[in-house]
Amino acid sequence: MIEKKEHWNSRFAFVMAAIGSAVGLGNVWRFPFVCYESGGGAFLIPFFVALFTAGIPLMILELSLGHWARYAPPQAFQKIGKKWEWTGWLIALSPFIIAIYYVVVMSWCFCYMIYSLDLRWGSHAEEFFHNFLADTGTPTVLGSISIPVILGLLVIWLCVFLILYKGVSRIGKVVAITVPLPTILLIILTVRGLTLPGAMDGISYYLTPDFSKLGDVNVWLAAYAQVFFSLSIAQGIMITYASFLKKKSDITNNAFIISLADAGTSFLAGFTVFSVVGYLAQTQGLTIPELGLRIAGPNLTFITYPTAISLLPVAASFFGIIFYIALLTFGIDSAFSMIEPFTASITNKWHLKKAKATALICLSGFLLSLLFATGAGLHWLDIVDHFIANFGLVTIGLLECIILGWLFRLATFREHVNKSSDIQIGKWWDTLVKYVVPLILIIILSVALYQNITDPYLNYPLWVLVLGGILPLAGLVILAVFLMKIRPAQEEQV
Ligand code: PHE
Repeated sequence: MIEKKEHWNSRFAFVMAAIGSAVGLGNVWRFPFVCYESGGGAFLIPFFVALFTAGIPLMILELSLGHWARYAPPQAFQKIGKKWEWTGWLIALSPFIIAIYYVVVMSWCFCYMIYSLDLRWGSHAEEFFHNFLADTGTPTVLGSISIPVILGLLVIWLCVFLILYKGVSRIGKVVAITVPLPTILLIILTVRGLTLPGAMDGISYYLTPDFSKLGDVNVWLAAYAQVFFSLSIAQGIMITYASFLKKKSDITNNAFIISLADAGTSFLAGFTVFSVVGYLAQTQGLTIPELGLRIAGPNLTFITYPTAISLLPVAASFFGIIFYIALLTFGIDSAFSMIEPFTASITNKWHLKKAKATALICLSGFLLSLLFATGAGLHWLDIVDHFIANFGLVTIGLLECIILGWLFRLATFREHVNKSSDIQIGKWWDTLVKYVVPLILIIILSVALYQNITDPYLNYPLWVLVLGGILPLAGLVILAVFLMKIRPAQEEQV
């Protein structure tokens, strides 16, 4: 293996890139809804408990592994033990699969940014959205391909390629804009939202604490799942990004900054979303539950929010445009961070030129994304996401804890981190990584498994679930083993 030459330009560049990866669509459309459903203000308790007992410890673990090994996941795991290289490949491939559909949602945002110019969805946002997608209403009928979605995909994949192919120094420059910009836009949207009539009703729906929910185990599981997804952990991203750090770099402090910035953005996004939902309810003379609108996922972004935007008395287009620009800029750093682990892994193993590896991966990503540009795309996207988010992420997190915590000397990482960090971590960290996190992950996994077996996801036919859920997961493992087995032309000493 050649010695890695790539480095972040500064600590700021690294922290911004990691925050950029963590803060994404998930903060805007996942957190506010999960919070509202899981006890409102009371949900902040399980959320912060999850953040401190699992999110931050795992963030520290991933950053320290990357920094200690100084390689992308497969080579980092190879350093742990030769037989673990496949785990590294699995970890590097998994976010690539997420990218394939995440980029599709960004393509929708791109189109909606343009549609905002003349509020093209009119007063029928829902109908418009389904027409735009050429939605067939079911995963079993592919229907036609949506041309605007393909054009959007081309633009987004091209951006991802242009940002990545020159290496991390370019990432550092891009995130200096794409992280602060959407945050400022989100603040502008929140101020606008909060000054609308009905906004306070929305906020009280969002935050009124329902402490009785804290007795519900599902609420706690939701908090952990949210933290995992939102921090971009268990996806090899933090391992890869930390491998580009200089030798003497702070880990613990950075892990806290990244995690708290992510949590803060989620909390803020709740105000943005719920103020507008409150406004929508008031203009229709209904309560929020009576609205019957889904305030999470694509429905929030492409139906509920546009509906509210159309009702704005002044500058509706302007607020529409900045909403979608915010989503695009929030999303783009998450999107390219999902590609980078795979690119870095390939360049580490085969010494391919970064530009070539990036081009290859982006091109295959684009072609695979086309599956989701069909009339059945929305449904397949939802199915693949359901399985990857519920099983993929959790399984990888668990593998990391077991391999690094039980089959390797975990203290190596603690000692490594403490050498260069301001905040010193103690044995409590070992306990969290070895016992608490795996236990929680096993519970989440068992509950998810039980629910999916007893109650098949959205009652889809079995073959659909196998194709969209089990096949991608199994495919990931097979591909990971395959990538481990093929050796570079001239075998190097590691
Ligand atoms: N954390 C990102 C978000 O909140 C999503 C993500 C998941 C990014 C997994 C990378 C890996 O949108």
